[in-house]
Amino acid sequence: MRFSDRQQANGITSTMTKQPPVNRTISSRSWNVLSSSQQQTERLGQALGQALQAGQTIALYGPLGAGKTALVRGIALGLGASPTAVTSPTFVVIHEYQGHLPMAHMDWYRIGSLHELESTGLTEYFAGQTVTVIEWAERGLPLLPQDRIDITLHHRTAFSRMIQLKTTGSTSHTTLSRARTTYCTSQRQRSNRKGTITS
Ligand SMILES: Nc1ncnc2c1ncn2[C@@H]1O[C@H](COP(=O)(O)OP(=O)(O)OP(=O)(O)O)[C@@H](O)[C@H]1O
Ligand SMILES: [Mg+2]
Repeated sequence: MRFSDRQQANGITSTMTKQPPVNRTISSRSWNVLSSSQQQTERLGQALGQALQAGQTIALYGPLGAGKTALVRGIALGLGASPTAVTSPTFVVIHEYQGHLPMAHMDWYRIGSLHELESTGLTEYFAGQTVTVIEWAERGLPLLPQDRIDITLHHRTAFSRMIQLKTTGSTSHTTLSRARTTYCTSQRQRSNRKGTITS
């Protein structure tokens, strides 16, 4: 097949041949990613961090060791904060980081009731400019902002995780679409560099 034929087959018209490749945004309210390593989960987080806007919330669900903190490490990196210090704030409930946006990383594992959560004042972060990322978000579901990105992580094998991302409003939808485009582009570039196909 000649080069121009291949372009036609790929839906690229001859008038576009001298243009740079168009990075189309992938738009969907839900998206599943199969991660085959901690590093891949961190790269997904990084794409999310790069797409986040001030004041947005990411709610994380999934059992112990599912990879929630690994994802948050990537989000911190994407926001330009130092990811090395990111650990689960299980006992102190919140860690704050400063990248190009401030980020509050919360862990609601030890929150006993909605009343207790309200009394901590943590939900006041939702009204400000800080990005909030919450592990064990199901402990305070009714108090979460209406427009957020919900991410559920499931164990598949020792090194793989199924990661389900869903949006609940228009702002989070725009963010997820941008993150998805960035992530898929970087995965494609990695595959091309390695000469292999990865998910
Ligand atoms: N594909 C993967 N993605 C993320 N972590 C993975 C993956 N494969 C293996 N792991 C391992 O799983 C563990 C995930 O730990 P992490 O602290 O991120 O879990 P967590 O969901 O935050 O748990 P907790 O609820 O206890 O805070 C790490 O030891 C990591 O190396
Ligand atoms: Mg954790």
